Amino acid sequence: MSGRPEMFEGVDEIWLDGEFVDFEDAQIHVLTHALHYGTGVFEGVRCYETEEGPAIFRWEEHLDRFFDSGAVYDIDIPFSKAELTEATEELIRREGLQSCYIRPIAFYGYGPLGLNPGKSPVQVALAVWPWGAYLGDEALEEGVDVAVSSWRKYASSQIPTNAKTTGTYVNSVLASQEAKANGYEEAIVLNKEGNVAEGPGENIFLVRDGEIYTTGLAESILDGITRQTAIELAEDMGYVVHDDATISRGELYTADELFFTGTAAEVTPIRSVDDNEIGAGTKGPVTDDIQTAFFEMLASGDREEWFRYV
Ligand SMILES: Cc1ncc(COP(=O)(O)O)c(C=O)c1O
Repeated sequence: MSGRPEMFEGVDEIWLDGEFVDFEDAQIHVLTHALHYGTGVFEGVRCYETEEGPAIFRWEEHLDRFFDSGAVYDIDIPFSKAELTEATEELIRREGLQSCYIRPIAFYGYGPLGLNPGKSPVQVALAVWPWGAYLGDEALEEGVDVAVSSWRKYASSQIPTNAKTTGTYVNSVLASQEAKANGYEEAIVLNKEGNVAEGPGENIFLVRDGEIYTTGLAESILDGITRQTAIELAEDMGYVVHDDATISRGELYTADELFFTGTAAEVTPIRSVDDNEIGAGTKGPVTDDIQTAFFEMLASGDREEWFRYV
């Protein structure tokens, strides 16, 4: 027995710095800069099973965000987008996966250890593994119970929130741990101003009087790719979408509907916040529309430009 976490059982290889290496050999030094200072950037991408084989969802957008995140910290990724694309596709083929989660990561590696990464080399890895619904299938149908976290989201004036930085995820870890410890499935974090920012790994949408609101980029959120997808699908269906909303905590409680979006969460209804039932306390009709459109789009592959077939 490998003694590996269940989710990684069956994973044979990882791509590390240009080579496919055995899972067990994908190792780095304990004096890696990113381990000490959180100086890494990463992505989370889904590859879906389709009739034409595995299809990576919005790969180019994820890759762009990956490089943009790196640019914030002068992490000069020593591979081209084309090389990373080829390596990812090859990895999925080698693992024989029809659907999976994809984790690209780039970080300052083992070099002189000090705050300024200076001459530390940039290392890059790609891993893929099978993955189902993040918050569970029931959550997609019934919704999740969430709580507003006592931890605030760091402000974009403190740490860029448009970059997906490894170190900053301690904020999400704290919010998530607190929510779980208190019996909730997920958290909502408020920003420094006390308005709604997002979930620890999700963007948030609110429905009121048939119109859709999501917190704007100036609210210290990550510009989620599923957020952009949901906005586009909703607008295509004729919904009015306010994508630069400021949402107060109280407005959560009185919303007709709330839902999360994210690569992991896909489109997940929120049925209660701080024990206040939202709407009818289950998936609402607008959320259902968006979620249905989302999964239909994935099943049909209609939006060709969003899929990269492996
Ligand atoms: C903090 C945070 N917000 C939002 C999201 C949703 O982004 P995306 O839809 O690109 O996965 C994520 C997930 O990556 C996240 O970590």
